[in-house]
Amino acid sequence: MAQDADILLHEPAGGPRKLRVLLFADPDNGAQIRAALEATEEPLDIHDADIAARPEQMREPTDVVMFVFTSERHPARIPAPGAESGKTPVRIALMKERAPQAVRAALRAGADEVLFLPVDQGELARALLKISEVSAAPQPGTRGRLISMVSVTGGAGVTTIAANCALALAHSTEKKVALVDLDFQSGDLDAALNLEPEHSIINLAEAKIRLNSVQVESALTRHPSGIYLLAAPRRIEESEQVPSSRVTDILSMLLEMVDVVIVDVGRHINDSSVAAWENSDEIVYVIDQSIGAIRGAWRFLDLFGRLNLSNIAPRIVLNRWIAHHPISDKHITNTLGRPLAARLPRDDDSIRLVVTRGEDLWKVAPRSALVRGYEALANELCGLAQKKPKASLFNKFFSFSRNGKNSRR
Ligand SMILES: Nc1ncnc2c1ncn2[C@@H]1O[C@H](COP(=O)(O)OP(=O)(O)O)[C@@H](O)[C@H]1O
Ligand SMILES: [Mg+2]
Repeated sequence: MAQDADILLHEPAGGPRKLRVLLFADPDNGAQIRAALEATEEPLDIHDADIAARPEQMREPTDVVMFVFTSERHPARIPAPGAESGKTPVRIALMKERAPQAVRAALRAGADEVLFLPVDQGELARALLKISEVSAAPQPGTRGRLISMVSVTGGAGVTTIAANCALALAHSTEKKVALVDLDFQSGDLDAALNLEPEHSIINLAEAKIRLNSVQVESALTRHPSGIYLLAAPRRIEESEQVPSSRVTDILSMLLEMVDVVIVDVGRHINDSSVAAWENSDEIVYVIDQSIGAIRGAWRFLDLFGRLNLSNIAPRIVLNRWIAHHPISDKHITNTLGRPLAARLPRDDDSIRLVVTRGEDLWKVAPRSALVRGYEALANELCGLAQKKPKASLFNKFFSFSRNGKNSRR
């Protein structure tokens, strides 16, 4: 079930901030637009643009530029005051003409939103509400944490772990979490969350369009738990339309919007995976108790070493762990030469319930060792203090190796 993305950003200290609006309007339309702006509930600080008299207006940080397109006034670029200081305003084109070529011209001129004249009060209020929520300035030092999950062996459990670590944070912490499906081949993070996204990363792929948080937010799908998904393109062939530089931009934008971004990198290593790793705070490599998975991990660690991303060490997570298996943890740690960061038990019954009931593990098996395992892993990856296990039985199913701590920085 797809739901609209909603409010994402941290509430600024001291309550909502006034949006600074710069209005470029002709006298005919100016009065109606001002009246409509003043009638919205949004706290606004409205200024009429007067470039000739006040050139410094073009340098002042501005949240919203409203620009009326008339036959005389249709610039190649809508002005973006304050852009040099690093904050580009959201630009709203206000147009009389509804013809597609006129709208296209406004979008090419940098418009993020197009509204028609006379301004509809409801549409204006909706646009401003969205801008005010996503432009609330993040507090300094609140860049989110980026966690990438990968395994070159398909079927090890990357998607399941990514989805459930995000759910774990949603259910057991206050963190705002976004999931990004960079496994464009499988693209099944939506299915793991029982979502049917209307939008995907493809909506953000057009390199000519300047990326802003309003666009990123509208490409997300909200899960009932409160986590957000940026889904993979619907068609495999569309993945070529998403360059790795764009992936980097999308991830850094998301990191400003939420506390934790978890990326399902999947099994295919390409420029986009490397782009994600380069910016990651944690990299999780998933294995199971199979020779193929361990060989895959070995090959991955070898490649990773050669990538020279020296400030981060991947953590190995053993999934579908069974205690009495011929391939023991010891065998695995000896072969890979590094400790396991976590073991997640095999639990076919709970996983089956998730699929058949279409609900998450916290509903169908809230006391399972698997839920505890995901919560402990997610907390560890976010550097949060681990809750003490309630029952000693927990220790039997799940364990953490403190030595497995990341050696970043
Ligand atoms: N802990 C677990 N216990 C039982 N089955 C699991 C567990 N983790 C994952 N699975 C199942 O293993 C299969 C592969 O998992 P998936 O997350 O799709 O792997 P990947 O993304 O690495 O290809 C899925 O059917 C999933 O439900
Ligand atoms: Mg997968």
